Amino acid sequence: MGERGDFGRLKLDVRMNLTSPAAATQASRAVREQELRAAESPAVLVRNLEKTYVTARGELTLFRALDLVVAPGELIAIVGQSGTGKSTLLHILGALDAPSAGTVYCASTNIAELKSKEAAAFRNRSIGYVWQFHYLLPEFTAQENVAMPLLARGLTKRDAMAQAASWLREVGLEERAAHRPGELSGGEQQRVALARALVNNPRLLLADEPTGDLDETTAGQIFDLIQRVHASHGLTSILVTHNMELAARCTRTLRLEGGRLMEVHP
Ligand SMILES: Nc1ncnc2c1ncn2[C@@H]1O[C@H](COP(=O)(O)OP(=O)(O)OP(=O)(O)O)[C@@H](O)[C@H]1O
Ligand SMILES: [Mg+2]
Repeated sequence: MGERGDFGRLKLDVRMNLTSPAAATQASRAVREQELRAAESPAVLVRNLEKTYVTARGELTLFRALDLVVAPGELIAIVGQSGTGKSTLLHILGALDAPSAGTVYCASTNIAELKSKEAAAFRNRSIGYVWQFHYLLPEFTAQENVAMPLLARGLTKRDAMAQAASWLREVGLEERAAHRPGELSGGEQQRVALARALVNNPRLLLADEPTGDLDETTAGQIFDLIQRVHASHGLTSILVTHNMELAARCTRTLRLEGGRLMEVHP
């Protein structure tokens, strides 16, 4: 069976699980309906994910039969204690790390089937990443940093720089285009990082504690910006955060605990 057929079967499988009579309590019905909608045409579909690291000191199992269904357009917050595997989960969704077992469809792509060249193209085109640390290249200007993913895709420097300028405008930094990262504030660096993450028009934004290094006010402003571009560009976004106030502003909050994701109810 081809990739599409597998995807269709998985969606059916998710629907059947979600509509079991045991799940139909009053309290969980609204959440179930939301999950059901997500299962119709998910942006992210994770089934029975397992991840075990083998280290010199033995095995470390992070995920046990972890499931996740995200509908297009959702802005999901993932919370959980340090070391539970939140970053590892984002790495797996973004094809930066491999599952030990289970199925991961992200933007209709079966991550496990990607060969290394395809994985690189998938990361470049389909996924936008923002990390806690901006990882901007210090010797290049803000505009050049934003242009990098476009140059990697083969655009001319002229076109890449023009699109980068437009994205810098979108994140409110057109006046800082010629600044190097060392000449920008922490909040401005994250704005550049967000522009760089989205310049290729990915469908999915993965952000790992994007406001973790910022003061409360700046963190709020960066979250506002993420929320704005999420809506205006029709993104599906998954955001890891330790900030419960920001998490409460997302469409859903999930807690990673004991190797699984659980809904956090407001
Ligand atoms: N490549 C690796 N090899 C072995 N163990 C790893 C590897 N990467 C991560 N780990 C371990 O997996 C666990 C989960 O790490 P991860 O970074 O995903 O946690 P986290 O939930 O993001 O934590 P934090 O909130 O502190 O960022 C940690 O105990 C970490 O030491
Ligand atoms: Mg982490």
